[in-house]
Amino acid sequence: MLHNRQRRRALIAGAVTLATAALGIGLSTQFAGAQATTLRAAADAIGKDIGVAVDVNKLQSNTQYRNTIAAEFNSVTAENAMKWDATEPQDGNYTFSQADTLVNFAEDNGQSVHGHTFVWHAQTPSWVQGLNATAMRSAMVDHINTVANRYEGRVDSWDVVNEVVSDNNGAMRDSFWLRTMGEGYITTAFQTARAADPNADLYINDYSIEGDNAKSDTIYRLAQGLKSQNILDGVGFQSHLILGQVPSTMEANLQRFVDLGLKVRITELDIRLNTPADANELAQQAEDYRRVTEICAELADCSGITVWGLRDNDSWVPGTFPGTGAALLFNDDFSKKPAYTSTLNALGGGGTGEPTTTPATTDPATSTPPPGDGCTATLSVQSPWNTGATYSATVKANQALTGWRVTWTWPGSERISNAWSVTGTLTGATVTGANAAYNGTLAAGQSTTFGFNITKNDGSTASVPTVTCTPA
Ligand code: XIL
Repeated sequence: MLHNRQRRRALIAGAVTLATAALGIGLSTQFAGAQATTLRAAADAIGKDIGVAVDVNKLQSNTQYRNTIAAEFNSVTAENAMKWDATEPQDGNYTFSQADTLVNFAEDNGQSVHGHTFVWHAQTPSWVQGLNATAMRSAMVDHINTVANRYEGRVDSWDVVNEVVSDNNGAMRDSFWLRTMGEGYITTAFQTARAADPNADLYINDYSIEGDNAKSDTIYRLAQGLKSQNILDGVGFQSHLILGQVPSTMEANLQRFVDLGLKVRITELDIRLNTPADANELAQQAEDYRRVTEICAELADCSGITVWGLRDNDSWVPGTFPGTGAALLFNDDFSKKPAYTSTLNALGGGGTGEPTTTPATTDPATSTPPPGDGCTATLSVQSPWNTGATYSATVKANQALTGWRVTWTWPGSERISNAWSVTGTLTGATVTGANAAYNGTLAAGQSTTFGFNITKNDGSTASVPTVTCTPA
């Protein structure tokens, strides 16, 4: 069975060929050299995952949170919803509603899923922790089989074990797993996961292993053993980093795991600082994000980067490391931080990633529009997948405007599922959109953007209809 990621990549490759042959400039320029303006489009173009840890409650309650995750990321991970305490709170009593919501969302939006996590010392119910060795082994096997089987073909990769090494000079972590089952619990977990979903990539995941140190040496030893049994595919480097402290040995350290024939992945990236942040710190943070992203972008076997939360106020950091925070790519109001731009650039994307509101031209000859042609609007496909696509739309004012209207009709089964920076009647075959409260006023020559996702019922190339734009 093709996993989401493989399916998405195959379709993108197909869509590029078709688009350049048959379609208008929207889609072809996106892939023929124009720089991507979302993290997602930039990561798609270089075949990497750009992921985000998702809070499923916010996904259900906050439209802008949902839309931003759909538009900016091609991969998602459950911040908590796939952990043992969420999926099997009592022995044999499985609860998948939150995890299902996330996997359905990923499928609707053409995103891959990196699963987190089967075996961990934290967020595992006490009923597991009190079992004897035989019972604990069967609880683990049952748990992995049940969760991995449920999402087979829909979750692309799993953190099979999490944080199994301690911070004490590379010793194994003294967890209930180790105390009850011995070090073999790790092998059991990987063997079970491999058998349950042979096509999923299996990762060992940990923190403070980004640089070359005693802890990453232990992970290296474990990885060698698991790889030699063909039950490990990759190493996840959580990368909960501190401002200005990207390890100087990070690139070489990741490379030594690649040299074992493994993938590497940045699985939980955040870069914390002492709050409140000043402009210099945000600039340093942008440099740190750039460096980490470059390391992954330049390593063919780095599958991608997941940031551990969307906005600074979504992050676990302030609650865990008091006095620190501001660790992510988006501000609390969803505006983009300098680290967003540097990450976009390091993925090969262009500009600031800000919605383009270009300055009005100063040339009176070009700033006088033909009468009756108050604005023009164009659509372009940012990320196509089998049953949908993300679009970006640009509205350009040819005269000073205090509002605009756009309309077009889909030629086929395309329908808008969600949209941002635009209002109106959007979900039918004929779309009638209008400016949002904040992007209707444009000087002559200025432009603004909005975006949306569509669903469609087949694998055909996403259409780029002609848009009629009128002043309002
Ligand atoms: C954190 C979540 O972000 C929090 O919401 C939760 O309360 C605790 O766990 N390493 C991991 C993640 O592997 O699962 C942790 O996530 C952060 C540290």
